[in-house]
Amino acid sequence: MSKITTFGSRFGTISVVGSSVIGLGNIWRFPYIAGENGGAAFILTYVIITLMISIPLMLSEFVLGRGSRRNSVRAFRKFDEKKSLFWRYFGVVGIATAISILSFYSVIAGWAIKYLIEAVKGTFFTQSPEQLTSLLNNFTTSGWHSVSFTLFVLVVCCGVVSLGMEKGIERYSKLLMPIMFVILVAMCINSFTLPGFNTAIEFLLTPDFSKINTGVVMEALGQSFFSMSIGLGAMITYGAYLPKTENLFKISGYVAISDLTVAVLSGLAIFPAVFSFGINPTSGPDLVFLTLPNIFAQMTGGYIISIMFFFLLIAAAMTSIISLIEVLTRYICEEFQIKRKRAIVIVWGLISILSSMCVISQMPDSKIVVAGMNLFDFFDTISSNYLMPIGGAITAIFVGWFVSKDKICTELTTNRTYGVLIVGTIYRLVKFVIPIVIALLFLNGIGLFKM
Ligand code: PHE
Repeated sequence: MSKITTFGSRFGTISVVGSSVIGLGNIWRFPYIAGENGGAAFILTYVIITLMISIPLMLSEFVLGRGSRRNSVRAFRKFDEKKSLFWRYFGVVGIATAISILSFYSVIAGWAIKYLIEAVKGTFFTQSPEQLTSLLNNFTTSGWHSVSFTLFVLVVCCGVVSLGMEKGIERYSKLLMPIMFVILVAMCINSFTLPGFNTAIEFLLTPDFSKINTGVVMEALGQSFFSMSIGLGAMITYGAYLPKTENLFKISGYVAISDLTVAVLSGLAIFPAVFSFGINPTSGPDLVFLTLPNIFAQMTGGYIISIMFFFLLIAAAMTSIISLIEVLTRYICEEFQIKRKRAIVIVWGLISILSSMCVISQMPDSKIVVAGMNLFDFFDTISSNYLMPIGGAITAIFVGWFVSKDKICTELTTNRTYGVLIVGTIYRLVKFVIPIVIALLFLNGIGLFKM
Protein backbone atom coordinates (compact mmCIF):
# COMPACT_ATOMS: atom_id res chain seq x y z
CA MET A 1 0.00 0.00 0.00
CA SER A 2 1.33 3.45 -0.81
CA LYS A 3 2.20 5.74 2.07
CA ILE A 4 -0.36 8.43 2.87
CA THR A 5 1.12 11.92 2.63
CA THR A 6 -0.05 14.26 5.37
CA PHE A 7 0.83 17.79 6.44
CA GLY A 8 4.04 17.94 8.45
CA SER A 9 2.87 19.95 11.47
CA ARG A 10 -0.04 22.00 12.79
CA PHE A 11 1.68 25.17 11.60
CA GLY A 12 2.02 23.52 8.18
CA THR A 13 -1.67 22.57 8.18
CA ILE A 14 -2.86 26.04 9.15
CA SER A 15 -0.50 27.67 6.65
CA VAL A 16 -1.65 25.48 3.77
CA VAL A 17 -5.37 25.70 4.52
CA GLY A 18 -5.06 29.36 5.55
CA SER A 19 -3.20 30.32 2.42
CA SER A 20 -5.95 28.83 0.25
CA VAL A 21 -8.57 30.65 2.22
CA ILE A 22 -6.76 34.00 2.38
CA GLY A 23 -6.74 35.47 -1.08
CA LEU A 24 -8.19 38.09 -3.34
CA GLY A 25 -11.50 37.39 -1.59
CA ASN A 26 -10.14 39.07 1.54
CA ILE A 27 -8.08 41.86 0.04
CA TRP A 28 -9.74 42.63 -3.28
CA ARG A 29 -13.37 41.69 -2.65
CA PHE A 30 -14.20 41.99 1.04
CA PRO A 31 -13.34 45.69 1.56
CA TYR A 32 -15.49 46.92 -1.32
CA ILE A 33 -18.40 44.55 -0.71
CA ALA A 34 -18.43 45.60 2.95
CA GLY A 35 -18.21 49.23 1.82
CA GLU A 36 -21.12 48.84 -0.58
CA ASN A 37 -23.34 46.98 1.87
CA GLY A 38 -23.32 49.00 5.07
CA GLY A 39 -19.89 48.37 6.63
CA ALA A 40 -20.15 46.83 10.09
CA ALA A 41 -23.72 45.57 9.60
CA PHE A 42 -22.39 43.54 6.69
CA ILE A 43 -19.42 42.30 8.73
CA LEU A 44 -21.77 41.11 11.48
CA THR A 45 -23.97 39.26 8.98
CA TYR A 46 -20.81 37.77 7.49
CA VAL A 47 -19.60 36.54 10.90
CA ILE A 48 -22.96 34.89 11.70
CA ILE A 49 -23.02 33.14 8.32
CA THR A 50 -19.43 32.01 8.73
CA LEU A 51 -20.15 30.57 12.18
CA MET A 52 -23.43 28.88 11.29
CA ILE A 53 -22.83 27.80 7.72
CA SER A 54 -19.24 28.06 6.51
CA ILE A 55 -17.45 26.47 9.49
CA PRO A 56 -19.83 23.46 9.67
CA LEU A 57 -19.43 23.04 5.91
CA MET A 58 -15.67 23.27 6.14
CA LEU A 59 -15.78 20.55 8.83
CA SER A 60 -18.00 18.42 6.56
CA GLU A 61 -15.52 18.76 3.70
CA PHE A 62 -12.61 17.88 6.01
CA VAL A 63 -14.50 14.79 7.17
CA LEU A 64 -15.11 13.66 3.58
CA GLY A 65 -11.48 14.28 2.64
CA ARG A 66 -9.78 12.80 5.67
CA GLY A 67 -12.22 9.90 5.93
CA SER A 68 -11.69 8.86 2.30
CA ARG A 69 -8.13 10.07 1.58
CA ARG A 70 -9.39 10.66 -1.95
CA ASN A 71 -9.93 13.54 -4.37
CA SER A 72 -13.04 15.70 -4.18
CA VAL A 73 -15.07 13.54 -6.59
CA ARG A 74 -14.10 10.10 -5.32
CA ALA A 75 -14.64 11.11 -1.67
CA PHE A 76 -18.43 11.15 -2.25
CA ARG A 77 -18.24 7.74 -3.88
CA LYS A 78 -16.32 6.30 -0.96
CA PHE A 79 -18.83 7.57 1.62
CA ASP A 80 -21.99 6.80 -0.37
CA GLU A 81 -23.33 3.54 1.04
CA LYS A 82 -25.86 3.00 -1.76
CA LYS A 83 -23.33 3.70 -4.53
CA SER A 84 -25.79 5.77 -6.52
CA LEU A 85 -25.01 7.36 -9.84
CA PHE A 86 -25.77 10.88 -8.59
CA TRP A 87 -23.16 10.85 -5.81
CA ARG A 88 -20.72 9.07 -8.08
CA TYR A 89 -20.55 12.15 -10.29
CA PHE A 90 -21.75 15.01 -8.09
CA GLY A 91 -18.20 16.08 -7.20
CA VAL A 92 -17.63 16.99 -10.85
CA VAL A 93 -19.69 20.16 -10.19
CA GLY A 94 -16.92 21.20 -7.78
CA ILE A 95 -14.31 20.51 -10.45
CA ALA A 96 -16.24 22.80 -12.83
CA THR A 97 -16.36 25.45 -10.09
CA ALA A 98 -12.59 25.22 -9.55
CA ILE A 99 -12.03 25.64 -13.29
CA SER A 100 -14.32 28.64 -13.42
CA ILE A 101 -12.70 30.39 -10.42
CA LEU A 102 -9.18 29.69 -11.70
CA SER A 103 -10.03 31.19 -15.08
CA PHE A 104 -10.86 34.68 -13.80
CA TYR A 105 -8.75 34.62 -10.65
CA SER A 106 -5.47 34.13 -12.50
CA VAL A 107 -6.32 37.16 -14.63
CA ILE A 108 -6.51 39.40 -11.55
CA ALA A 109 -3.28 37.88 -10.21
CA GLY A 110 -1.74 38.88 -13.56
CA TRP A 111 -2.94 42.48 -13.08
CA ALA A 112 -1.37 42.47 -9.60
CA ILE A 113 2.00 41.51 -11.11
CA LYS A 114 1.73 44.30 -13.66
CA TYR A 115 0.91 46.74 -10.83
CA LEU A 116 3.82 45.52 -8.70
CA ILE A 117 6.13 46.31 -11.62
CA GLU A 118 4.55 49.76 -12.01
CA ALA A 119 4.87 50.32 -8.25
CA VAL A 120 8.60 49.48 -8.37
CA LYS A 121 9.04 51.80 -11.38
CA GLY A 122 7.31 54.57 -9.38
CA THR A 123 4.69 55.07 -12.11
CA PHE A 124 1.99 56.10 -9.61
CA PHE A 125 4.05 59.17 -8.71
CA THR A 126 4.69 60.42 -12.21
CA GLN A 127 1.22 60.04 -13.73
CA SER A 128 -1.94 62.09 -13.32
CA PRO A 129 -5.18 60.42 -12.13
CA GLU A 130 -6.43 60.47 -15.76
CA GLN A 131 -3.26 58.76 -16.93
CA LEU A 132 -3.62 56.13 -14.20
CA THR A 133 -7.20 55.47 -15.34
CA SER A 134 -6.02 54.93 -18.90
CA LEU A 135 -3.16 52.73 -17.62
CA LEU A 136 -5.74 50.37 -16.09
CA ASN A 137 -8.13 50.53 -19.05
CA ASN A 138 -5.39 50.07 -21.63
CA PHE A 139 -3.89 47.19 -19.74
CA THR A 140 -7.10 45.27 -18.99
CA THR A 141 -8.23 45.60 -22.59
CA SER A 142 -4.78 45.01 -24.10
CA GLY A 143 -5.39 41.36 -25.04
CA TRP A 144 -2.12 39.49 -25.43
CA HIS A 145 -0.09 41.84 -23.27
CA SER A 146 -2.39 41.15 -20.33
CA VAL A 147 -2.58 37.44 -21.26
CA SER A 148 1.20 37.13 -20.89
CA PHE A 149 1.00 38.15 -17.21
CA THR A 150 -1.76 35.61 -16.57
CA LEU A 151 0.21 32.82 -18.24
CA PHE A 152 3.25 33.72 -16.14
CA VAL A 153 1.17 33.39 -12.95
CA LEU A 154 -0.05 29.98 -14.05
CA VAL A 155 3.46 28.70 -14.86
CA VAL A 156 4.77 29.70 -11.42
CA CYS A 157 1.79 28.23 -9.55
CA CYS A 158 1.82 24.98 -11.54
CA GLY A 159 5.57 24.79 -10.85
CA VAL A 160 4.95 24.90 -7.09
CA VAL A 161 2.16 22.27 -7.28
CA SER A 162 4.40 19.99 -9.35
CA LEU A 163 6.83 19.82 -6.41
CA GLY A 164 4.12 18.05 -4.40
CA MET A 165 2.46 18.84 -1.10
CA GLU A 166 5.42 18.76 1.27
CA LYS A 167 8.19 20.23 -0.89
CA GLY A 168 5.98 22.58 -2.85
CA ILE A 169 2.66 23.75 -1.45
CA GLU A 170 3.41 23.37 2.27
CA ARG A 171 6.88 24.90 2.04
CA TYR A 172 5.72 28.01 0.13
CA SER A 173 2.62 28.48 2.27
CA LYS A 174 4.72 28.38 5.46
CA LEU A 175 6.97 31.04 3.99
CA LEU A 176 4.32 33.33 2.55
CA MET A 177 1.64 33.28 5.26
CA PRO A 178 3.78 35.06 7.92
CA ILE A 179 5.08 37.55 5.32
CA MET A 180 1.50 38.42 4.35
CA PHE A 181 0.54 39.05 7.97
CA VAL A 182 3.61 41.23 8.59
CA ILE A 183 2.85 43.35 5.51
CA LEU A 184 -0.79 43.78 6.48
CA VAL A 185 0.03 44.74 10.05
CA ALA A 186 2.66 47.22 8.82
CA MET A 187 0.07 48.78 6.51
CA CYS A 188 -2.46 49.01 9.35
CA ILE A 189 0.09 50.70 11.61
CA ASN A 190 0.66 53.22 8.86
CA SER A 191 -3.11 53.72 8.61
CA PHE A 192 -3.16 54.86 12.26
CA THR A 193 -1.18 57.91 11.31
CA LEU A 194 -3.66 59.02 8.65
CA PRO A 195 -6.35 61.64 9.33
CA GLY A 196 -9.08 59.36 7.90
CA PHE A 197 -8.48 56.60 10.48
CA ASN A 198 -11.42 57.50 12.73
CA THR A 199 -13.84 57.81 9.82
CA ALA A 200 -12.68 54.40 8.58
CA ILE A 201 -13.21 52.80 11.99
CA GLU A 202 -16.68 54.31 12.14
CA PHE A 203 -17.45 53.11 8.63
CA LEU A 204 -16.20 49.58 9.33
CA LEU A 205 -17.41 49.14 12.88
CA THR A 206 -20.71 51.06 13.28
CA PRO A 207 -23.52 48.76 12.16
CA ASP A 208 -26.17 50.26 9.90
CA PHE A 209 -28.88 47.60 10.15
CA SER A 210 -31.20 49.43 7.78
CA LYS A 211 -28.92 48.23 4.97
CA ILE A 212 -29.48 44.54 5.76
CA ASN A 213 -31.93 42.85 3.41
CA THR A 214 -32.02 39.40 1.84
CA GLY A 215 -29.88 40.62 -1.06
CA VAL A 216 -27.15 41.62 1.38
CA VAL A 217 -27.45 38.31 3.26
CA MET A 218 -27.07 36.47 -0.05
CA GLU A 219 -24.04 38.64 -0.84
CA ALA A 220 -22.53 37.79 2.56
CA LEU A 221 -23.19 34.09 1.95
CA GLY A 222 -21.46 34.15 -1.45
CA GLN A 223 -18.56 36.13 -0.01
CA SER A 224 -18.18 33.77 2.96
CA PHE A 225 -18.16 30.69 0.70
CA PHE A 226 -15.68 32.29 -1.66
CA SER A 227 -13.44 33.54 1.12
CA MET A 228 -13.50 30.26 3.09
CA SER A 229 -12.87 28.26 -0.12
CA ILE A 230 -15.88 26.00 0.43
CA GLY A 231 -18.60 24.52 -1.74
CA LEU A 232 -16.31 23.09 -4.42
CA GLY A 233 -14.31 20.39 -2.68
CA ALA A 234 -11.08 22.34 -2.06
CA MET A 235 -11.32 21.44 1.62
CA ILE A 236 -12.05 17.81 0.69
CA THR A 237 -8.80 17.80 -1.27
CA TYR A 238 -6.83 19.41 1.56
CA GLY A 239 -8.71 17.31 4.14
CA ALA A 240 -7.20 14.23 2.49
CA TYR A 241 -3.79 15.44 3.73
CA LEU A 242 -4.90 15.96 7.34
CA PRO A 243 -3.33 13.62 9.90
CA LYS A 244 -5.82 11.54 11.92
CA THR A 245 -4.50 13.12 15.09
CA GLU A 246 -5.42 16.63 13.97
CA ASN A 247 -8.29 18.36 15.73
CA LEU A 248 -10.64 19.48 12.96
CA PHE A 249 -12.53 21.95 15.17
CA LYS A 250 -9.35 23.78 16.05
CA ILE A 251 -8.14 23.90 12.43
CA SER A 252 -11.41 25.27 11.08
CA GLY A 253 -11.65 27.73 13.98
CA TYR A 254 -8.11 29.07 13.47
CA VAL A 255 -8.63 29.27 9.74
CA ALA A 256 -11.93 31.15 10.05
CA ILE A 257 -10.40 33.58 12.54
CA SER A 258 -7.38 34.21 10.26
CA ASP A 259 -9.69 34.71 7.30
CA LEU A 260 -11.84 37.31 9.05
CA THR A 261 -8.80 39.00 10.61
CA VAL A 262 -7.15 39.42 7.22
CA ALA A 263 -10.38 40.71 5.67
CA VAL A 264 -10.90 43.30 8.42
CA LEU A 265 -7.18 44.24 8.49
CA SER A 266 -7.36 44.76 4.73
CA GLY A 267 -10.26 47.12 5.33
CA LEU A 268 -8.22 48.93 7.97
CA ALA A 269 -5.22 49.08 5.66
CA ILE A 270 -7.27 50.47 2.78
CA PHE A 271 -10.15 52.64 4.09
CA PRO A 272 -8.21 55.16 6.23
CA ALA A 273 -6.26 56.13 3.13
CA VAL A 274 -9.45 56.24 1.05
CA PHE A 275 -11.14 58.58 3.55
CA SER A 276 -8.04 60.70 4.13
CA PHE A 277 -8.03 61.65 0.48
CA GLY A 278 -11.77 62.25 0.32
CA ILE A 279 -12.64 59.34 -1.94
CA ASN A 280 -15.91 57.40 -1.89
CA PRO A 281 -15.26 53.87 -0.55
CA THR A 282 -17.91 52.28 -2.72
CA SER A 283 -15.90 52.31 -5.90
CA GLY A 284 -16.11 48.57 -6.62
CA PRO A 285 -13.25 46.39 -7.87
CA ASP A 286 -11.53 49.49 -9.18
CA LEU A 287 -10.78 50.32 -5.54
CA VAL A 288 -7.59 48.26 -5.59
CA PHE A 289 -6.28 49.05 -9.07
CA LEU A 290 -7.45 52.64 -9.53
CA THR A 291 -8.21 54.32 -6.24
CA LEU A 292 -5.25 52.93 -4.33
CA PRO A 293 -2.51 53.84 -6.86
CA ASN A 294 -3.82 57.43 -6.79
CA ILE A 295 -3.75 57.40 -3.01
CA PHE A 296 -0.27 55.86 -2.80
CA ALA A 297 0.97 58.73 -4.96
CA GLN A 298 -0.17 61.28 -2.38
CA MET A 299 0.93 59.40 0.73
CA THR A 300 4.16 59.81 2.66
CA GLY A 301 6.00 56.50 2.25
CA GLY A 302 3.61 55.70 -0.60
CA TYR A 303 6.38 54.16 -2.71
CA ILE A 304 7.25 51.45 -0.20
CA ILE A 305 3.62 50.91 0.78
CA SER A 306 2.52 50.44 -2.82
CA ILE A 307 5.22 47.81 -3.35
CA MET A 308 4.25 46.01 -0.14
CA PHE A 309 0.57 46.11 -1.04
CA PHE A 310 0.92 44.63 -4.52
CA PHE A 311 3.35 42.00 -3.24
CA LEU A 312 0.73 41.06 -0.64
CA LEU A 313 -1.94 40.86 -3.31
CA ILE A 314 0.21 38.59 -5.51
CA ALA A 315 1.18 36.28 -2.63
CA ALA A 316 -2.44 35.98 -1.47
CA ALA A 317 -3.71 35.34 -5.00
CA MET A 318 -1.03 32.81 -5.91
CA THR A 319 -1.44 30.64 -2.83
CA SER A 320 -5.20 30.42 -3.53
CA ILE A 321 -4.54 29.59 -7.18
CA ILE A 322 -2.17 26.85 -6.02
CA SER A 323 -4.95 25.27 -3.92
CA LEU A 324 -7.33 25.28 -6.89
CA ILE A 325 -4.69 23.72 -9.14
CA GLU A 326 -4.15 21.03 -6.49
CA VAL A 327 -7.90 20.23 -6.54
CA LEU A 328 -7.79 19.64 -10.30
CA THR A 329 -4.44 17.87 -10.29
CA ARG A 330 -5.35 15.37 -7.59
CA TYR A 331 -8.63 14.66 -9.36
CA ILE A 332 -6.98 14.02 -12.73
CA CYS A 333 -4.17 11.91 -11.20
CA GLU A 334 -6.51 9.60 -9.30
CA GLU A 335 -9.37 9.45 -11.75
CA PHE A 336 -7.36 8.90 -14.91
CA GLN A 337 -4.39 7.18 -13.28
CA ILE A 338 -1.77 9.51 -14.65
CA LYS A 339 1.38 10.97 -13.17
CA ARG A 340 1.23 14.24 -11.24
CA LYS A 341 3.48 16.17 -13.64
CA ARG A 342 1.41 15.16 -16.65
CA ALA A 343 -1.82 16.09 -14.86
CA ILE A 344 -0.37 19.53 -14.12
CA VAL A 345 0.45 20.09 -17.77
CA ILE A 346 -3.19 19.31 -18.63
CA VAL A 347 -4.44 21.73 -15.95
CA TRP A 348 -2.01 24.41 -17.12
CA GLY A 349 -3.13 24.04 -20.74
CA LEU A 350 -6.84 24.14 -19.93
CA ILE A 351 -6.70 27.11 -17.58
CA SER A 352 -4.34 29.00 -19.89
CA ILE A 353 -6.90 28.75 -22.68
CA LEU A 354 -9.87 29.74 -20.50
CA SER A 355 -8.14 32.61 -18.71
CA SER A 356 -6.81 33.96 -22.02
CA MET A 357 -10.41 33.90 -23.27
CA CYS A 358 -11.43 35.85 -20.14
CA VAL A 359 -8.87 38.53 -20.97
CA ILE A 360 -9.83 38.66 -24.61
CA SER A 361 -13.52 38.90 -23.72
CA GLN A 362 -12.71 42.16 -21.92
CA MET A 363 -11.48 43.80 -25.11
CA PRO A 364 -13.93 46.44 -26.43
CA ASP A 365 -14.84 44.67 -29.68
CA SER A 366 -14.88 41.16 -28.20
CA LYS A 367 -17.56 38.76 -29.38
CA ILE A 368 -17.18 36.46 -26.36
CA VAL A 369 -20.39 37.12 -24.45
CA VAL A 370 -22.11 34.58 -22.16
CA ALA A 371 -25.49 35.32 -20.55
CA GLY A 372 -25.06 38.98 -21.43
CA MET A 373 -21.67 39.24 -19.69
CA ASN A 374 -18.07 39.03 -20.73
CA LEU A 375 -16.47 35.70 -19.82
CA PHE A 376 -14.55 37.16 -16.87
CA ASP A 377 -17.74 38.48 -15.17
CA PHE A 378 -19.60 35.32 -16.11
CA PHE A 379 -17.10 33.01 -14.36
CA ASP A 380 -16.99 35.34 -11.35
CA THR A 381 -20.79 35.48 -11.07
CA ILE A 382 -21.61 31.81 -11.61
CA SER A 383 -18.96 30.57 -9.22
CA SER A 384 -19.73 32.63 -6.13
CA ASN A 385 -23.45 33.32 -6.68
CA TYR A 386 -24.51 29.91 -7.92
CA LEU A 387 -22.02 27.04 -8.03
CA MET A 388 -20.47 27.44 -4.57
CA PRO A 389 -23.75 27.89 -2.60
CA ILE A 390 -25.40 25.02 -4.52
CA GLY A 391 -22.31 22.83 -4.09
CA GLY A 392 -22.26 23.65 -0.37
CA ALA A 393 -25.96 22.93 0.14
CA ILE A 394 -25.79 19.59 -1.68
CA THR A 395 -22.64 18.60 0.22
CA ALA A 396 -24.52 19.35 3.47
CA ILE A 397 -27.45 17.20 2.29
CA PHE A 398 -25.03 14.38 1.49
CA VAL A 399 -23.30 14.50 4.86
CA GLY A 400 -26.55 14.99 6.81
CA TRP A 401 -28.84 12.54 5.03
CA PHE A 402 -26.84 10.01 3.02
CA VAL A 403 -24.04 8.99 5.38
CA SER A 404 -24.57 7.45 8.79
CA LYS A 405 -24.31 9.87 11.70
CA ASP A 406 -21.87 7.53 13.44
CA LYS A 407 -19.46 7.57 10.55
CA ILE A 408 -19.51 11.38 10.37
CA CYS A 409 -19.16 11.92 14.11
CA THR A 410 -16.39 9.35 14.47
CA GLU A 411 -14.37 11.00 11.71
CA LEU A 412 -15.14 14.45 13.07
CA THR A 413 -13.84 13.62 16.52
CA THR A 414 -11.51 10.70 15.69
CA ASN A 415 -12.90 9.08 18.81
CA ARG A 416 -11.84 11.81 21.16
CA THR A 417 -14.47 13.00 23.57
CA TYR A 418 -15.81 16.40 22.71
CA GLY A 419 -18.83 18.11 24.16
CA VAL A 420 -21.82 16.22 22.76
CA LEU A 421 -23.37 19.64 22.42
CA ILE A 422 -20.78 20.92 19.94
CA VAL A 423 -20.81 17.80 17.75
CA GLY A 424 -24.62 17.61 17.92
CA THR A 425 -25.02 21.28 17.04
CA ILE A 426 -22.66 21.07 14.08
CA TYR A 427 -24.44 17.95 12.86
CA ARG A 428 -27.88 19.58 13.08
CA LEU A 429 -26.66 22.72 11.35
CA VAL A 430 -25.36 20.58 8.49
CA LYS A 431 -28.42 18.36 8.29
CA PHE A 432 -31.21 20.94 8.58
CA VAL A 433 -30.17 24.56 8.80
CA ILE A 434 -27.66 24.83 5.96
CA PRO A 435 -29.76 23.22 3.19
CA ILE A 436 -32.89 25.15 4.24
CA VAL A 437 -31.21 28.55 4.60
CA ILE A 438 -29.36 28.25 1.29
CA ALA A 439 -32.48 27.00 -0.51
CA LEU A 440 -34.59 29.91 0.83
CA LEU A 441 -32.00 32.53 0.00
CA PHE A 442 -31.55 31.04 -3.40
CA LEU A 443 -35.25 30.88 -4.25
CA ASN A 444 -35.58 34.44 -3.01
CA GLY A 445 -32.66 35.49 -5.19
CA ILE A 446 -34.23 34.10 -8.34
CA GLY A 447 -37.63 35.55 -7.39
CA LEU A 448 -39.47 32.27 -6.66
CA PHE A 449 -39.98 33.03 -3.00
CA LYS A 450 -40.56 36.34 -1.19
CA MET A 451 -38.84 37.14 2.11
N1 PHE B 1 -10.67 31.75 -0.71
C1 PHE B 1 -9.99 32.37 -1.79
C2 PHE B 1 -10.02 33.87 -1.60
O1 PHE B 1 -10.50 34.35 -0.61
C3 PHE B 1 -10.58 31.98 -3.14
C4 PHE B 1 -10.74 30.52 -3.33
C5 PHE B 1 -12.00 29.98 -3.50
C6 PHE B 1 -9.64 29.67 -3.27
C7 PHE B 1 -12.18 28.62 -3.62
C8 PHE B 1 -9.81 28.30 -3.39
C9 PHE B 1 -11.09 27.76 -3.56
O2 PHE B 1 -9.57 34.59 -2.40
